[in-house]
Amino acid sequence: STLKKAFQDKFYIGTAMSLPQIDGTDQRAAAIIKKQFSSVVAENCMKSMFLQPQEGKFFFDDADKFVDFGLKNNMFIIGHTLIWHSQLPKWFFLDKNGKDVSPEVLKQRMKNHITTVVSRYKGKVKGWDVVNEAILEDGTYRKSKFYEILGEDFIPLAFQYAQEADPNAELYYNDYNEWYPEKVKAVITMVEKLKSRGIRIDGVGMQSHVGMDNPSIDEYEKAIVNYSNAGVKVNITELEISALPSPWGSSANVSDTVAYQKEMNPYTKGLPKEVEAKWEKRYLDFFGLFLKHKDKIRRVTLWGVTDKQSWKNDFPVKGRTDYPLLFDRKDQEKPVVQKIIKLAEKN
Ligand code: G3I
Repeated sequence: STLKKAFQDKFYIGTAMSLPQIDGTDQRAAAIIKKQFSSVVAENCMKSMFLQPQEGKFFFDDADKFVDFGLKNNMFIIGHTLIWHSQLPKWFFLDKNGKDVSPEVLKQRMKNHITTVVSRYKGKVKGWDVVNEAILEDGTYRKSKFYEILGEDFIPLAFQYAQEADPNAELYYNDYNEWYPEKVKAVITMVEKLKSRGIRIDGVGMQSHVGMDNPSIDEYEKAIVNYSNAGVKVNITELEISALPSPWGSSANVSDTVAYQKEMNPYTKGLPKEVEAKWEKRYLDFFGLFLKHKDKIRRVTLWGVTDKQSWKNDFPVKGRTDYPLLFDRKDQEKPVVQKIIKLAEKN
């Protein structure tokens, strides 16, 4: 059986697509995507620096190919991401003299970007990550250019522009470390503010770039339940489980590059059996939780298909050999896939 079949009456099961998968260079991964997944999101090519590298000069070639792939294969297509402080071209918030633009100008630029992009894919892209990563772990707002110039108002404005451009698309707020209690609280407050102003938000995206130990399944479950109680659907948007030691709380001195590299990259020749078993169990624990809460969950999307293509190989240092995804470096399905399928069939 396949993931797509096993989850068809539960929630969408998706993957991010890298450029080689979109443009036909990586045919093997594209074949896996067609067979296994019911939803797709572009890993990079719909970010603002790629879509509008210069003011008013839009580049849609890659995004168009991505959307065509999704349409041809009857997939639930997700757009990532409209307003994000990263992979944001500098012109977006600067005037001719290199100074920050006024709130009015920034609003106009946000509106133009969102309206142009969302209208182009109206009815085709079914859900948008409207705002990405605006809230910090302690529950305060990230001091991004959007926040510095517009204050927290940039969030309702972004949702309003997106809603006007495609009233039928689902609209999400997406973030990482999405289970930190202070962050959960702040996201929920933001959701409530949007709703009280009559602005629609359909879901929260829990990115879920998780490690072997953190977060605990209990902590994570609390976040799912709390978001759902706030009246939004939960989307697991960027799931992968790194098998390598967490960079947070490392004992190595980061400036001692050689020692740090070594500590961060211990399994260059394959995962030891016991680590692999722990990693598998971790995936099954998460999928068990998603299935338990399937009434609250709209979609579970993995942040990539095969290990060789994962961004985790370059984070926090370049050249790591990580094993975070469901398909290996030779494009082969890992044993955990059939175990996840069995779990879905039982639930
Ligand atoms: O486009 C250039 C290309 O021209 C150049 O040849 C190549 C050489 O390294 O770099 C390319 O840019 C890279 C870009 O991905 C496109 O491949 C950047 O260096 C690289 O930093 C960038 O990384 C992406 C990262 O977002 C940027 O912040 C990752 O692939 C992507 O997986 C990651 O995704 C984010 C989500 O959007 C939001 N949540 C967190 C998640 C992981 O960081």
